[in-house]
Amino acid sequence: MLGLLLCTLFLFAVGVLTGAAQSLLLPPTCSQPRTRVEFRELDESQRQAYLSAVGCLRQYPSQLPFNGSRSFYDDLVAVHLNNVAKAHDVAAFLPWHRPFIAFFEVALSQFCGYTGTLPYWDWSYDSQQPERSPLFTDAYFGGNGDTANNSCLETGPFAGESAIYPQPHCLSRGFFFGDNNGTGDMMGAQYSPIEMEWVLRHTTYDAFRQALENHPHNMLHTALGGDMLGLVSSVNDPIFWLHHCNLDRWWARWQLANPDVGDTYSGNVESGMNDNNASLTDLMHYSGIHPDITVESVMNFTNGLDGLLCYTYSDSIGNPNITNTELQTPITDDRIPVLPGTNTDAPTRRRRSHGLRRRSSSTTPTKSKSITPPPTDRSSPLLSAHARLSASTIAAKNMSAAQVSRIRAQEVKVDVFLERVNAAGWRSHAAIGQWVPEPGSFVGFEEWKRKVDALLDAIGLPPP
Ligand SMILES: *[C@@H]1O[C@H](CO)[C@@H](O)[C@H](O)[C@H]1NC(C)=O
Ligand SMILES: *[C@@H]1O[C@H](CO)[C@@H](O)[C@H](O)[C@H]1NC(C)=O
Ligand SMILES: *[C@@H]1O[C@H](CO)[C@@H](O)[C@H](O)[C@H]1NC(C)=O
Ligand SMILES: *[C@@H]1O[C@H](CO)[C@@H](O)[C@H](O)[C@H]1NC(C)=O
Ligand SMILES: *[C@@H]1O[C@H](CO)[C@@H](O)[C@H](O)[C@H]1NC(C)=O
Ligand SMILES: *[C@@H]1O[C@H](CO)[C@@H](O)[C@H](O)[C@H]1NC(C)=O
Ligand SMILES: *[C@@H]1O[C@H](CO)[C@@H](O)[C@H](O)[C@H]1NC(C)=O
Repeated sequence: MLGLLLCTLFLFAVGVLTGAAQSLLLPPTCSQPRTRVEFRELDESQRQAYLSAVGCLRQYPSQLPFNGSRSFYDDLVAVHLNNVAKAHDVAAFLPWHRPFIAFFEVALSQFCGYTGTLPYWDWSYDSQQPERSPLFTDAYFGGNGDTANNSCLETGPFAGESAIYPQPHCLSRGFFFGDNNGTGDMMGAQYSPIEMEWVLRHTTYDAFRQALENHPHNMLHTALGGDMLGLVSSVNDPIFWLHHCNLDRWWARWQLANPDVGDTYSGNVESGMNDNNASLTDLMHYSGIHPDITVESVMNFTNGLDGLLCYTYSDSIGNPNITNTELQTPITDDRIPVLPGTNTDAPTRRRRSHGLRRRSSSTTPTKSKSITPPPTDRSSPLLSAHARLSASTIAAKNMSAAQVSRIRAQEVKVDVFLERVNAAGWRSHAAIGQWVPEPGSFVGFEEWKRKVDALLDAIGLPPP
């Protein structure tokens, strides 16, 4: 019996070690790209079909020789866990996750008969009160975990489930400040509609990637908490896929909005380094679920990787009704404030969690003490260090002088935009309760957007 087991494990291991010459997943041929839509754009039966398929995949037998995996879903958690360092805080953040979520999409269909596409969660729409998003109700993904019981998820279709990686534990969710009687601010300013406009305007891949990863990506992981908080555990929470699908949508939008540089790639290959070594020919690894993939081969999402990437995105569900003043301005400063009462050895810990450190759930957040003043330097470090079109990209793309000067002009306009935002007194808000809210002339999202649009018009920077 044991011999058979070892033999089976060995055979599996050989399959993986020989480089997994073939993908486990068999994507359909790409005749016509399919449209990925926001979860709320699905009708009720489609939503339930999606959730059942996810439930099915959480039961479907493991296909990879990770000895802890109970299911194919666990395999996906392990694939992500094993590639954390090469897929986060590096240039490959976006291209690594693009096929990863597509594997999940194909697996839902191949193993569980799901016929739809992967939906996304447009968190900007909910940035004012994410904890009240309809997605976090019993009918869909369940709500906050039980704060009295390790944040274990006790509502919704995944209630009472467990996770095996990195260690066995209950599937958990722990809203950050969302437990403040429903009025807590879950750092919505870092993924508000205004913030996303700012993110989208960056003119190089590296600057865009950093803004997208550090602000909305990290802050959503932190705000949702529980399994989503940890780089090694986030995939356990089924909301992970909708979050990353939305991030991929923003990358796709950026690609389409910037045709000159939409298929360029730049930045660091080592987390925490400034090596600027990223190249389109870099190989990305998927621990046996698929052979290595070059970054270049995932650039085209409408027809890439032999049909694995064959989608477009819907325009989502429209502008939300934003009344929270802290959501009015983009956060142009990339520095994430350190929470009072936490120490500052961030580099080691930041590799393990998504961005911001947080207090333990036993400490009740208070807004009244230890106010961290807003930053005095409001310029974005991204603008100086990373946002410029590099000589290597110009050479690699054989860009014409006209193309280069068009992009240079856009860079200047982004600078001017930020200067004017600052001059107007629309200060950066971290909106985590520690920074002083700016009393301003904000009278609602529409009004603010009108002002921003007017400002953009004045400097000739058209809305994307
Ligand atoms: C299998 O799991 C055990 C216990 O968690 C661990 O010590 C061991 O390294 C694992 N082996 C492999 C090949 O992953
Ligand atoms: C805590 O959560 C676990 C996992 O969902 C569950 O089995 C257990 O009964 C819960 N304990 C209490 C006291 O609610
Ligand atoms: C918290 O919410 C409950 C239910 O909505 C309400 O009765 C209570 O007054 C609120 N407490 C505070 C401090 O706002
Ligand atoms: C970047 O690339 C150079 C040249 O290939 C190499 O010497 C260097 O070690 C690389 N740096 C990192 C951090 O990978
Ligand atoms: C992606 O590939 C398809 C099919 O080869 C092509 O028609 C389309 O133009 C490509 N898209 C981009 C942005 O290059
Ligand atoms: C927007 O929300 C505010 C308060 O949340 C409410 O008073 C207002 O009527 C809403 N406006 C619209 C157009 O829904
Ligand atoms: C670069 O572009 C110029 C002008 O469009 C063209 O003449 C030249 O052949 C191109 N070089 C390469 C290496 O593609």
